[in-house]
Amino acid sequence: MGAEQLLQPFQSRRTFYALEASSTISDDKINEIVHAVVKHTPSSFNSQSTRVLVLLADEHKKLWEEIVKPAVKAVAPPEAWEGSEKKLTGFANAYGSVLFYEDPQDVSNLQQKFPLYSDKFPQWSEHTNAMHQYALWTAFEQEGLGANLQHYNPLIDEKVASTWGIPKTWSLKGQLVFGKPASQPGEKSFKPIEGERLFVYGGKFGQKK
Ligand SMILES: Cc1cc2nc3c(=O)[nH]c(=O)nc-3n(C[C@H](O)[C@H](O)[C@H](O)COP(=O)(O)O)c2cc1C
Repeated sequence: MGAEQLLQPFQSRRTFYALEASSTISDDKINEIVHAVVKHTPSSFNSQSTRVLVLLADEHKKLWEEIVKPAVKAVAPPEAWEGSEKKLTGFANAYGSVLFYEDPQDVSNLQQKFPLYSDKFPQWSEHTNAMHQYALWTAFEQEGLGANLQHYNPLIDEKVASTWGIPKTWSLKGQLVFGKPASQPGEKSFKPIEGERLFVYGGKFGQKK
């Protein structure tokens, strides 16, 4: 397999906000894909510190209607609530959510084992988590699903933990909302790459002039 076969999915992955409460693939297939992402995504020192909670259909709806909405309403300025509620209803009307956690026990195990990198492990744990998010986001969209990434942590952490039996120590990092796309995302603008975001020297590119 050449890089193109991966670069194409990277290129077509986008943020889809308009989603339906249905899926382009079966619940079993969703589970299979998440399983593969959890198994094969790399982690700092192979710590495997990421934990994933998948909520489908009615359980997904419960998250957004019964947990996120009241939590946001409690802290939102009254004039902002109408807009927030509309946005949250959009998420509630999708098909599923994947919640990405890090287990701090795995991070402190690393810190004890490798004291030299002690101060680096929390950051590498965030990197590890983000890699899982990106891998799953990209994989889902290869199956015709649309997804968007949200961050209602830590506002919702306690309620989610007590509802789905998640250890209170796990740290929630992000929520990937997904479903069948109801519309396509718009054009995306790009900053210049060569000379601004990408620098290559050596080989045919030569030394810096
Ligand atoms: C680390 C990270 C955090 C993000 N957080 C949010 C978020 O909290 N809410 C949201 O609606 N989109 C969020 N996004 C989506 C970005 O806004 C989006 O990926 C970006 O505008 C590029 O658009 P694209 O995903 O269609 O390529 C996040 C993306 C990344 C990579």
